[in-house]
Amino acid sequence: MTSNEGPNAPAWPEATELADEVLWLLYQRQQPVGLDELARLAGTSRASVSRALEQLSRRGHVLNRSQVGLCLSQPVRLDACLIERMLRSSRVGRHAIVFDEVGSTNDVAFDCARRSGSDGLVVLAESQRAGRGRMGRRWHSPRGSNLLLSVLLVDDRALLSHDAVTIAAGVAVAEATADAGADGRLKWPNDVLVDGAKLAGVLVEARQVHHSRCIVVGIGLNVNAAPPAQHVERPATSLSAVLGHAVDRLAVLRSLLERLDHWVAQVAGGHIEPLRQAWLARCGMVGQRVEITCHGREFRGTVLDVDPMEGLLLAEDSGGQVHLPAEASSMRT
Ligand code: BTN
Repeated sequence: MTSNEGPNAPAWPEATELADEVLWLLYQRQQPVGLDELARLAGTSRASVSRALEQLSRRGHVLNRSQVGLCLSQPVRLDACLIERMLRSSRVGRHAIVFDEVGSTNDVAFDCARRSGSDGLVVLAESQRAGRGRMGRRWHSPRGSNLLLSVLLVDDRALLSHDAVTIAAGVAVAEATADAGADGRLKWPNDVLVDGAKLAGVLVEARQVHHSRCIVVGIGLNVNAAPPAQHVERPATSLSAVLGHAVDRLAVLRSLLERLDHWVAQVAGGHIEPLRQAWLARCGMVGQRVEITCHGREFRGTVLDVDPMEGLLLAEDSGGQVHLPAEASSMRT
């Protein structure tokens, strides 16, 4: 289900195959390559490569040409063929669709659940008209700069607890930011912050589609641009602001999807303890005083532990202990 959706989607399958191959060769090279060399590597003629390059331009890829050859201009445009070829995952990201603009990638992912074989599909968009955040908030992201994606998990055997997937997604995002060189820390349940500024958010939703229980993991990760200040309630940041250089979105996407693949497999296999340990290692909230709203009630207390199935374990100021489920809770401090 490789697909790049939009007005410039190409018409002929064979031409698309060659364009995909040329794109993959250029992406892997990361440095200028001559037309003859490209034709040799692709096993075809210069003329065919030229046509493939024209198709890539129509697909929105920008090529830098110099005397030494041509290369992809950075940041490389998200492309389903690149995503599917680079991933080493068993479930998450087996198929990819990239849109220029959608309402919400979460909604598109649920729509795709009607097609058979869509488990593991990742839906990406360069921009969203109605990106959803947790607790009814909006998610804003400058076009073409960041990662806006949703992963569809068709959970026919009811192996995936909503709360455990929520925790797993946060851990995967925090680990991917660490792979990129930034120390992303988790804020309950799955915001990822750097120095208190929000880098990423996760919205996990579950719906029944026909006879299947479907979970969609929606992730917004600010890679090369933070949203404008007037659109956010709290300070926001981006990987590029933290690291001081432009960041390859595809490299971040790869580690994010591969790590999510790992944690989803752990949850499906009932291996919850490693997930708990990974969340605690990236969080550092144990022992902190917090205020949390859960099911409309306010809780104040000290964080004791996390249980991916039951939630955050809080020693309440008023006495006693309570588990606050991830799906329903939001931190105020
Ligand atoms: C939050 O922190 O409130 C969660 C934000 C989740 C935003 C992502 S962007 C991709 C996906 N599509 C949506 O509409 N929302 C999620």
